[in-house]
Amino acid sequence: MLGVPALPKIALAESKNQGIQVSTSETSVVPPSAPVRYQDDVVLGFSIMTVAWGVVGMLVGVWIAAELLWPALNFDTPWLTYSRLRPLHTNAVIFAFGGCALFATSYWVVQRTCRATLFAPNLARFTFWGYQAVIVLAALTLPLGITQSKEYAELEWPIDLLLAVVWVAYAIVFFGTIMKRTVGHIYVANWFYGAFILTVAVLHIVNSAAIPISLTSSYSAYPGAVDAMVQWWYGHNAVGFFLTAGFLGMMYYFVPKQVGRPIYSYRLSIVHFWALISVYMWAGPHHLMYTSLPDWVQSLGMVFSLILLAPSWGGMINGMMTLSGAWHKLRDDPILKFLIVSLSFYGMSTFEGPMMSIKTVNALSHYTDWTIGHVHAGALGWVAMISFGSIYMLIPRLVGKPTMHSVAAINVHFWLATVGTVIYIVAMWIAGVMQGLMWRATEADGTLTYSFVESLKATHPFYAMRLVGGVIFFSGMLLMAWNVWRTVKAPVATHEAVALTGGAS
Ligand code: HEM
Ligand code: HEM
Repeated sequence: MLGVPALPKIALAESKNQGIQVSTSETSVVPPSAPVRYQDDVVLGFSIMTVAWGVVGMLVGVWIAAELLWPALNFDTPWLTYSRLRPLHTNAVIFAFGGCALFATSYWVVQRTCRATLFAPNLARFTFWGYQAVIVLAALTLPLGITQSKEYAELEWPIDLLLAVVWVAYAIVFFGTIMKRTVGHIYVANWFYGAFILTVAVLHIVNSAAIPISLTSSYSAYPGAVDAMVQWWYGHNAVGFFLTAGFLGMMYYFVPKQVGRPIYSYRLSIVHFWALISVYMWAGPHHLMYTSLPDWVQSLGMVFSLILLAPSWGGMINGMMTLSGAWHKLRDDPILKFLIVSLSFYGMSTFEGPMMSIKTVNALSHYTDWTIGHVHAGALGWVAMISFGSIYMLIPRLVGKPTMHSVAAINVHFWLATVGTVIYIVAMWIAGVMQGLMWRATEADGTLTYSFVESLKATHPFYAMRLVGGVIFFSGMLLMAWNVWRTVKAPVATHEAVALTGGAS
């Protein structure tokens, strides 16, 4: 695992607005030539830890994929059982890998687009160390079986409290920086990051409300079906705000920056921002179809999920069209390939999601591996790929190198990630639809055609296929770790002289 290298002191960066053209009416109160000091030590720390936690989280993903194929890998020890390692995987990839990428990019973007250094630098450093402490505590407690058993909110109450403090500190640093901006305009990427930070604070605090009975256990503050509804209001908005709005913030800065032209439609970005955040909140019940939740709530969730297709695609189209007239750049810029292909996967998973929320479709897909395929189309294709592209852009700039150590390795990583994702999700689609059909098949006398074990046996080859896809994806992650390590360590002279498009910052 990579360690955190010695962090540089506050960097003196160029003051111009990084080529991001926000609007023609942008008003700056600082002369364009005046230098602005940026605080990039926390950005570097979070960027390095994105890669480190990516390696850890995906290694656990590969391991649990292997456990499903070969149950003997559970080794009869409680710490390595699937049930304990699975939440370790989800927490490590979503909150450690994805979370660190969001912290790193949001701190970078808010400073550049506001032309201001981070508000409260020491508080920003506290968010780095505090967040890493939460991750380490999660990595220790989950294999020990200490859990609240709420999906994506497993951590016990003392860790939840620490996370709440860190998150409030994050909000103070982020919004404080917006307040002290020296440009009149608030660039749209900050709207998305801001919505993500505010909403995650509310979701975490409300859903984690619990009555502690000891240091390591507690009971949810909500009863029965209300608990389920609060949990999936949280769960779905974790998808909507953690895995979507935050990463859209990333997209709105890094795509135009790497293409070297302004976002396709600033107006569309504002319209789809408001549409997305107001619709997402209501779609949670699609996780609870055919449960004891009132029927009308389930239907409401379905309708809002269908509506969600439009604002989701608004963002995808806006990102893609930013490249219009410059498609040739995709040929030899692997970072741009990561960013644009991530948008394709975003478009695909946000088409699939609304379809799966239709009650009759959900009757087939729920509980099957189709859901796992949908999750990883979004997680590997969208979340991980846009993070890879953005971190590849950031690292050389943060360590003062002209480019990554090996641009060829970025290209290889891109293909490993794309092929790995496709193999993973195709395997899960086939397995999922097959499971759904086998479980519902009945004989003329009403008895089930297949036993559960028969459906499990039929799934076995697809678990092997998923493992192959996962190993390919993971090897790309390892390649990235090596490339980042060499970039940080190597002297400037050994770097390839290939300058990527997008301009230095
Ligand atoms: C090498 C890459 C990866 C592999 C091999 C992998 C493998 C797995 C496996 C085997 C499961 C359990 C599936 C089940 O219960 O049937 C799982 C669940 C999950 N993974 Fe991954 N994963 C990888 C990367 C990621 C990444 C990067 C993310 C997020 C950014 C992610 C998010 C999730 C989520 C949210 C679940 C829970 C899905 C659900 O409950 O429906 N995974 N993963
Ligand atoms: C328009 C957008 C989307 C809609 C309407 C949607 C809808 C759905 C539906 C209907 C399910 C299945 C629920 C079930 O049967 O249990 C689901 C599961 C899931 N989706 Fe999406 N989805 C969308 C986008 C995304 C994206 C972009 C991601 C990831 C980046 C994502 C991550 C997940 C996860 C993690 C689950 C599994 C939750 C669990 O059971 O543990 N979704 N989604």
